[in-house]
Amino acid sequence: MQNLKLGVLVSGSGTNLQSIIDSIESGYLQAEVVVVISSKEGAYALERAKRHNIPAYAVERRNFDSQEKYEDEIIELLKKHRVELVVLAGFVKVLSPHFVRAFPNRIMNIHPALIPSFCGKGFYGKKVHEAVINYGAKITGVTVHFVDEGTDTGPIILQKAVPVEDDDTPETLAARVLEEEHRVYPEAIKLYSEGRLEIRGRRVLIK
Ligand code: GAR
Repeated sequence: MQNLKLGVLVSGSGTNLQSIIDSIESGYLQAEVVVVISSKEGAYALERAKRHNIPAYAVERRNFDSQEKYEDEIIELLKKHRVELVVLAGFVKVLSPHFVRAFPNRIMNIHPALIPSFCGKGFYGKKVHEAVINYGAKITGVTVHFVDEGTDTGPIILQKAVPVEDDDTPETLAARVLEEEHRVYPEAIKLYSEGRLEIRGRRVLIK
């Protein structure tokens, strides 16, 4: 079996990127991160990529006069590196249908809550955990899903529940959820790489 070529899109610290790299290096995942693209210059995720000799680029929206041109630059980089699966790992920019159509059913996202709760526009990073605590939810979790043309609406691949403790702050909850993210994302990518995910309408069957 050939290594699945991954293109990872990031915006921040890149701990999910690191868990994917570690899963490849340990032999759990038969894949290769061929390119990392950040929506922000100076994101720590870019350092992680460089440390592993992975080509890394920052592509910032403010340097383009339209969303389409911005996305075209990212699409071009992904295609140049022959990416087979696009992995969104803490990427904070919403991608338009133009981008999604360039990689149909070949984009995955990880969201730090149980979709369809606490998701959609404006729900990213710490804001998600604040909303979970403020609502008083007792259970939150992790969702990995395929990306469709909506925000956090694509077919769900894997979900894992994580308890909310009475004394949780957004930071302590984020840390507990991240631990689970670091297990679940490699698992979902592994299932994809083994050809075991079948999309049937809104459902993803694991074969
Ligand atoms: C992760 O918790 C990820 O689920 C979240 O951003 C964090 C990135 O952490 N993504 C979203 O909120 C997307 N809506 P990382 O940079 O350390 O991987």
